[in-house]
Amino acid sequence: MHFTILSAGILALSIPAVSATGHQIDRRAVVRMFNPRRNASSATTPLQVGNGNFAFGVDVTGLQTFSPFATMSTWGWHNFSLPTTPGQTAVEDFAGLDWWTHDRLVNYNQPNPAQSDISNWLIQNPQRLNLARIGLSFNGDETTEDELEDKIQELDLWTGKISSSFKYKGTAVYVETWVDANSDTIGILVESELLGVGSLGVFFDFPLPTRNKFDAPFVGVFNTTSSHKTTLNPQEGAATIRHDLDETSYDVSFNWNSHADISGPLNGTHRYLLKPSGKEKNITLSVTFSPDATSAQVPDLAQIEKLSRNWWQSFWNSGAFVDLSATTLPKATELQRRIILSQYLTAVNSASAYPPQESGLVNNGWYGKFHLEMILWHLLHFARWDKYPLLWRSLPHTYSDFLSSSIDRARRQGYEGARWGKMTDPTGRSAPGEINSLLIWQQPHPMYFAETEYRSFPSGATLEKWDGILTSTADFMASYAFYNGSTGVYDLGPPMYPASENTNPNATINPAFELAYWRFGLDVAIRWKQRQELPVPAKWIDVRDKLAPLPTAGDAFALYEGIPDMWKPNSTTVTDHPAMSAIFGLLPPPSSGPPLNMTVVRNTADKIRDLWDRDDCWGWDFPMLAMNSLRLGDVDQAIAYLLDPLFNFDDAGYPEGGSRVPTPYFPGSSSFLLAVAMMAGGWDGEPGSHFPEDWKARVEGFVPGL
Ligand SMILES: *[C@@H]1O[C@H](CO)[C@@H](O)[C@H](O)[C@H]1NC(C)=O
Ligand SMILES: *[C@@H]1O[C@H](CO)[C@@H](O)[C@H](O)[C@H]1NC(C)=O
Ligand SMILES: *[C@@H]1O[C@H](CO)[C@@H](O)[C@H](O)[C@H]1NC(C)=O
Ligand SMILES: *[C@@H]1O[C@H](CO)[C@@H](O)[C@H](O)[C@H]1NC(C)=O
Ligand SMILES: *[C@@H]1O[C@H](CO)[C@@H](O)[C@H](O)[C@H]1NC(C)=O
Ligand SMILES: *[C@@H]1O[C@H](CO)[C@@H](O)[C@H](O)[C@H]1NC(C)=O
Ligand SMILES: *[C@@H]1O[C@H](CO)[C@@H](O)[C@H](O)[C@H]1NC(C)=O
Ligand SMILES: *[C@@H]1O[C@H](CO)[C@@H](O)[C@H](O)[C@H]1NC(C)=O
Ligand SMILES: *[C@@H]1O[C@H](CO)[C@@H](O)[C@H](O)[C@H]1NC(C)=O
Repeated sequence: MHFTILSAGILALSIPAVSATGHQIDRRAVVRMFNPRRNASSATTPLQVGNGNFAFGVDVTGLQTFSPFATMSTWGWHNFSLPTTPGQTAVEDFAGLDWWTHDRLVNYNQPNPAQSDISNWLIQNPQRLNLARIGLSFNGDETTEDELEDKIQELDLWTGKISSSFKYKGTAVYVETWVDANSDTIGILVESELLGVGSLGVFFDFPLPTRNKFDAPFVGVFNTTSSHKTTLNPQEGAATIRHDLDETSYDVSFNWNSHADISGPLNGTHRYLLKPSGKEKNITLSVTFSPDATSAQVPDLAQIEKLSRNWWQSFWNSGAFVDLSATTLPKATELQRRIILSQYLTAVNSASAYPPQESGLVNNGWYGKFHLEMILWHLLHFARWDKYPLLWRSLPHTYSDFLSSSIDRARRQGYEGARWGKMTDPTGRSAPGEINSLLIWQQPHPMYFAETEYRSFPSGATLEKWDGILTSTADFMASYAFYNGSTGVYDLGPPMYPASENTNPNATINPAFELAYWRFGLDVAIRWKQRQELPVPAKWIDVRDKLAPLPTAGDAFALYEGIPDMWKPNSTTVTDHPAMSAIFGLLPPPSSGPPLNMTVVRNTADKIRDLWDRDDCWGWDFPMLAMNSLRLGDVDQAIAYLLDPLFNFDDAGYPEGGSRVPTPYFPGSSSFLLAVAMMAGGWDGEPGSHFPEDWKARVEGFVPGL
């Protein structure tokens, strides 16, 4: 790959002769090498088809016959009814807590022990809904998965198709499962002699949500019929089932192509049965989910298949690509497997109208809500892999949508600008929590997104699109930093939580990563105004130029200023997210203020490698460490982090949660893709591929990162 530098930060790629598909790399061959194949259901993960806003997770039958994996969407949410406890019956009754903050009381959105009912309600509501379960019904039998023989299943990543076949009492059954690229519709084909003799049908069932923080591997319960209602409306060759739960209702509209009858609910359940009544040996079924049946257009299977094929082909053919197939080294092959499967899974689970929850559309963590500090990990890779249309589904509109509530949040606390929330639902409400209310590293994220986008689209439109968001963000960041008259610098905190969430918030001041990120954010905000030839607020410059220095301990960075026993083996200070590695990894070197002391940067990387409690690391920690190693020139160590035994991806590419959270934990996949983009595309000053020379890696379509 050859790069031509046109002007600062803008690169043109000159790609030699390309194939008929428009690429040097045979992308289809590389992708298909990693099609997941199963002969049994996994206990923890489904195989999924989906479109980013809607996904359907299946067991080994291609449906949810034995394992009730989820059918989830961006729009399906539910509230339990508000508490009836006197004084706690409305959202407005919640008072939060006042904490001393630089000699004044500031109100934080934290659970109030005197108001535990409304505090808990706000944490637990709304939850994301599992919309339905759809499975095969074997002649009314209590059949188990063990009774099926010759089970073979394959997910074709290139077309978005799951093919499943097996035998039931000696008779073959074949199932195809698709999801429409443009609507929340599942397309199903079932072929079997069993259909023609009335021995096989398809059931629909509807769960009640729970108040579980983590609802995994399955979401909701199917054994409670009270508290929710289903209503069948059968038509000719079609039907609608409406599901009502408290204030939430939605419709499942479906049609089929052969003689069949829909009946139900079966006594004491919300289960409905579609049973073939003719001689046909196949049935096709299209199932559309929508908040409102009147708007549901149910496409037929042929349309769904066509759109899915087109969408996935254009997904794989667009943007950047990495081909490691020239080597048979197991390390390279495993990296390639993770690259392909992570791309598929983040497109299905994270490319949504709002940022994804950590477990995407697979199951529920944190009640299905999303975390605004995690969206950099979840979404930035779409930009780095040049798949901007997927990024633009949620950004920047999530920030614009939440701008006024974030300005209110800051104002109520006596700050300027917009203070972004943390654990969030589509209304923008941030759930009460001590950590939730005191975390700050989500604040500069808009700057990272904006600056990355400007690199690819250096236009007035990009500047304008992000200007209001960046201005409010920088106003808050400048106003949050506290001028310390005795030291003459601006401090961050206390009280606050650093990214690692494991310190005493009242003692936490000037955490190293957050200080570096504050500088980065203000630098971008200042540059943004300069590019538009607009005045730069003096406060931004003053704060940036007088930010407290990055704290050190023992010739390496300290988690925060004054932390005792920083680099003592087995101390609690060397646990949780090693965010100090992001200072020179995720972040580029500072473009203002004193240069980083590279001795300190190197010492920090070494000490983390040697002393950190690796068992307690998870998800994005490993890619973050890999990015730090890359920028320090240690590719082997970067690869070792990306393949660390504690950073696991299962047979279908789902990132395992480890000891801390259930599987999948998608920040692992997305941060992995971010680190791979850095390895494949390089960064400012070191563009191009950084894969080991002897791997003969082929990369295309990357521009260097910041
Ligand atoms: C099922 O797949 C697993 C792993 O892919 C393999 O080890 C096992 O032999 C297979 N079992 C059968 C019955 O094919
Ligand atoms: C849940 O209740 C909150 C507070 O009244 C409201 O803002 C939100 O829209 C509700 N969400 C759903 C899905 O009903
Ligand atoms: C922090 O200080 C506040 C008072 O401002 C107090 O209520 C809170 O309990 C303290 N938190 C911790 C973890 O010490
Ligand atoms: C309903 O099912 C859940 C698991 O899905 C189980 O934990 C619970 O005990 C069941 N409740 C009843 C009343 O059977
Ligand atoms: C439905 O269940 C109820 C109570 O469990 C029972 O009395 C009734 O006979 C059942 N009806 C059918 C058709 O099975
Ligand atoms: C379904 O069966 C009919 C004949 O019964 C056949 O013409 C048709 O091709 C089959 N469709 C599929 C998708 O297999
Ligand atoms: C000023 O900074 C010093 C050193 O970090 C700290 O001990 C002191 O509490 C700060 N003063 C205020 C008013 O926060
Ligand atoms: C960089 O840090 C090392 C280790 O703490 C120190 O010895 C050295 O003086 C520092 N260099 C500069 C230029 O500050
Ligand atoms: C740290 O803990 C591990 C076990 O968790 C132990 O093997 C090791 O000796 C400890 N090291 C120190 C310096 O205490």
